[in-house]
Amino acid sequence: MNLPSISKCFELMAETKMLDNIKVHSIMVSKVAILLAQYMRQAGIPLSLELIETAALLHDITKTRSLQTGERHSRTGARFLRSLGYPEVASVVLQHVRLSRYSDSSLPSPSEIVNYADKRVLHDQITDLAERMRYIEERYGADDKKRQRIQLLWRDSVRLEQKLFRFLPFEPHELPDLLRPK
Ligand SMILES: [Fe+2]
Repeated sequence: MNLPSISKCFELMAETKMLDNIKVHSIMVSKVAILLAQYMRQAGIPLSLELIETAALLHDITKTRSLQTGERHSRTGARFLRSLGYPEVASVVLQHVRLSRYSDSSLPSPSEIVNYADKRVLHDQITDLAERMRYIEERYGADDKKRQRIQLLWRDSVRLEQKLFRFLPFEPHELPDLLRPK
């Protein structure tokens, strides 16, 4: 598996002129994703922390540009990372808004963890799923069709949360406390 180093991730953020607020959001998503993944590894689930960390840091790599162009940043981010030779990171980034498949029975995957972590971070703050989804609805639910799609995403994200927390020794609302420096 070819993964960028952490410093390469930050270089890419600089090269793509990532906005500061998107950068701090990405750093917080990576902290959440790593924490979840560490607990899951303790529960015996094999996961690459390096893949999860780098994909979380890079999940919004084309988001800054998308604010101008209107491109689908999950797709273009994945394409960009694939072109750099990081197909595994690209696959996680492709699925960070919506997973290509929701499964209750498979073991948690890096894509599921990064997708969920992104839904627990509003700007650079930990939030709950409902607040984050309300924000998405307000910001992106311009018409009925979009609102409907967001409702489906909400439903699937609740399912995803339930699935992931079957493998974790704490509850969703305890996440902010666990991330606070001791
Ligand atoms: Fe994003």
